[in-house]
Amino acid sequence: MPGNDYELLDSGGGRKLERFGPCVLARPAAQAVWRPSLPPSRWQGAHASFDRDGGQRWHRRDALPESWVIEMGGLRFRLAATDFGHLGVFPEQREQWGWLGERVAEAARRLGRPPAVLNLFAYSGGATLAALRAGASACHVDASKGMVEWARENAALNGLETAPVRWIAEDVHKFLRRELRRGRRYDAVVLDPPTFGRGPSGEVYKIEQEIVTTLDLCRAVMSDTPMLVLLTSHTPGFSPQVLANLLAFGWPDMRGRIECGEMLLTGRPGVAALPSGSWARWARGAKEVV
Ligand SMILES: C[S@@+](CC[C@H](N)C(=O)[O-])C[C@H]1O[C@@H](n2cnc3c(N)ncnc32)[C@H](O)[C@@H]1O
Repeated sequence: MPGNDYELLDSGGGRKLERFGPCVLARPAAQAVWRPSLPPSRWQGAHASFDRDGGQRWHRRDALPESWVIEMGGLRFRLAATDFGHLGVFPEQREQWGWLGERVAEAARRLGRPPAVLNLFAYSGGATLAALRAGASACHVDASKGMVEWARENAALNGLETAPVRWIAEDVHKFLRRELRRGRRYDAVVLDPPTFGRGPSGEVYKIEQEIVTTLDLCRAVMSDTPMLVLLTSHTPGFSPQVLANLLAFGWPDMRGRIECGEMLLTGRPGVAALPSGSWARWARGAKEVV
């Protein structure tokens, strides 16, 4: 069984309590409107906590190592407490990495070559690493040079430093338009657009205004025999059905199967799962729906 150093310990009162390897952290989770199950002493015993009240800040950040490594879904990640309360991994994406890896491995066998996977808004590289490990060639795009560097470090931590990957720090729309001009095409696209983001030259990305254009551009860079699309979002209101509709109505010409669901943070049996965003995926497959 692949290593798993992550678990959700509890949630409630607008917060979540999680263990990342040796470190227990309490952070905001607006959707956790119920009462916590664990006593306050367990929450107060967290190594560090992050609050949005009165400005975003960590409490007891110095109790955390400057950085540490955990294993999740068989992949290794370097974690560090960022100023925004992020740690360098979104554990709710674990299930998607497993699905992506299985599909890529199957396509690599079928095609007899590495499927070309494009990972957009790629953050610390979970999907890139899962695809590479399963035999893909990958293109990893994120606006933040620092995050691209972080993803490269994660690749090295997983023995993937020589894997076939292009690391690109650029605005996603700028990148996609250039790929189109150059005629580069991909078998699979993975994207996790932020609610609000900025490209390296200050390009503003607001998901409500941009997502249709993003998906149109993604459709245009797909190969003639596209294999899969995986769209995830943490934006309030972007429910599983909203994401599924974006794929279904945006690309009516794509024959395949669309599924959707909630991303969940989970822990041991008995710990209530915490909804943390949505996913929708399109895959060419045996059960094609016209
Ligand atoms: C992990 S994703 C979004 C995570 C989550 N869905 C959310 O809403 O917070 C965020 C990533 O997108 C990147 N990003 C934001 N705007 C971008 C843009 N215009 N082009 C490329 N990457 C961008 C950020 O640097 C960050 O690594």
